[in-house]
Amino acid sequence: MKNLPIGYIDSGYGGLSVVRQSLRQLPNESIIYFGDNARNPYGTRHLEEVKAFIWQMTDFLLDKGIKMLVIACNTGTAAALDEIRQGVDIPVIGVIHPGSRAAIKETKNHRIGIIGTEGTIQSGLYESVLLKDTNQLQVTSLACPSFVQMVEDNLMDDDAIQAPIDQKLQIFKDRQVDTLILGCTHYPLLSERIQASVGQGVKLVDSGVETVNEITFLLDYFQLSKNAQDAQEHPPTQVYYTTGHVAPFKEVAQKWLASKNLDVRHVDLEEVNDR
Ligand code: DGL
Repeated sequence: MKNLPIGYIDSGYGGLSVVRQSLRQLPNESIIYFGDNARNPYGTRHLEEVKAFIWQMTDFLLDKGIKMLVIACNTGTAAALDEIRQGVDIPVIGVIHPGSRAAIKETKNHRIGIIGTEGTIQSGLYESVLLKDTNQLQVTSLACPSFVQMVEDNLMDDDAIQAPIDQKLQIFKDRQVDTLILGCTHYPLLSERIQASVGQGVKLVDSGVETVNEITFLLDYFQLSKNAQDAQEHPPTQVYYTTGHVAPFKEVAQKWLASKNLDVRHVDLEEVNDR
């Protein structure tokens, strides 16, 4: 069991921000990734529809064999985490709770900002997790759907996107937040630009980074982690599936993960829809 890969799912490239951290912290682990680029964005869809897509991807990865599932998508986490947890017999991790906990730890002035997709922001899940144990926090949430498109269009290095990002995030300067949760896994791919907009004094919380701490903890707890000796006997592998085109996926993934010759495979939506 412990030699099986960890499965990661997202609407597209966003979950790669979680994988990047996982490669750093858990280099012995195998990875199988599913990016649903053909149906991106999820953030503007009804959460029931997103839930159905998350189930399809989950079933696809369960068929391949995984020891743990990471819903590396905030919208998907808001839509489906509880149900998927109840419906499968492996550990399932979402990205919202770890990010919220980290923000509470970081803030000094108790003013926290959240940016995410429309689906995530409307679900109110971040607020309810943040405010569950304290009423001390002032929380400002904002949906930034255009940021997802910037990433899916691979515009991260295009300086023309800086001005619209600055304009969109001005509210966090006005409200003097000191901690901003990147509540969409696509946003860490824009983190330098977001940091430049809100100022260096604001701590950005990358939910991917926090999620990998939780993955590490749960792998140990369930005695599922691979050590160096295991990795020698079963060298770690990485396979990336996309419902979109292989070439742009490969370009973004190889750049973001600083890897060469990644194994990227196309999956037909029909094959996924059948589940
Ligand atoms: N990366 C996803 C998230 O964390 C979804 C982006 C989208 O497809 O709208 O919410």
